[in-house]
Amino acid sequence: MGTQDLDRYNALMEVVRNRMTTRQFDPAQPVPREHIEMVLEAARHGPSGANAQPWHFIVVTDPSVKKKIADYFVEEARKRAKLKMKFPTPNYRGLETAPGFVVVVADFRFVRAFPVLLDGSDLDKLYQQNAERILLQSVAAATMSAHLAAAALGYQVWWVTAIGQDDAQSAMKPLLGVPNDLAVIDIMCFGKPAKPPYKRWKKTLPQIMSWEKFDRKNYMSIADIDRWVEETRHKVMYKDESKVD
Ligand SMILES: Cc1cc2nc3c(=O)[nH]c(=O)nc-3n(C[C@H](O)[C@H](O)[C@H](O)COP(=O)(O)O)c2cc1C
Repeated sequence: MGTQDLDRYNALMEVVRNRMTTRQFDPAQPVPREHIEMVLEAARHGPSGANAQPWHFIVVTDPSVKKKIADYFVEEARKRAKLKMKFPTPNYRGLETAPGFVVVVADFRFVRAFPVLLDGSDLDKLYQQNAERILLQSVAAATMSAHLAAAALGYQVWWVTAIGQDDAQSAMKPLLGVPNDLAVIDIMCFGKPAKPPYKRWKKTLPQIMSWEKFDRKNYMSIADIDRWVEETRHKVMYKDESKVD
């Protein structure tokens, strides 16, 4: 490996490590159109199952549309609180502060491009389920490239997926002119953060990596996971990694 390769790896890792979620942006520091295009240029090169590229990216610049989308999320968070869903919800008002605001749309009809039977059989259901996973991984891969490009340009990012339900689809699609058979799957926000971002807890390499065989010491039972959700989740979501033990 040449030193050039190592330099390139280090430059990439600098971007990877410093991509940090921020949920409140500084609207006084706009993102020029050119940067938005540079960010989506990275998405364009993403890998996808069958090279289907089942994605669309809608750039939102109209503050009133951003506000309407933020309103929806704030209301949805209120509904969830009422349902006693104990998820530590962030303040979705922050959405409307994002100078870079891109709605990610997936075309799930492209599951047809993957190995499926399309005969409505039980076996087909299994293949369809897998095809949906392929499609989601594909859109995530392109989206992640865009997030890294935004981070490389000196912005911080926010990946918002708290959507999914029919209500969200019908609230957002008309605002954005999204055809009914496509799906809004997440929103990518980016810009200069309102406050300095902080590095969140990440598992160590030995905690995620096995050689040859799955390392059983990293296996968690359902009880372990429930304990993690109860005792740790809120810390790793909203605290600096140094404050998580
Ligand atoms: C698939 C995916 C979905 C996410 N959905 C949300 C979301 O709906 N709302 C939110 O505030 N953050 C969301 N996030 C951001 C995560 O909370 C964040 O990435 C995580 O806490 C790790 O922090 P980091 O991005 O600073 O490394 C999502 C991230 C990913 C990758």
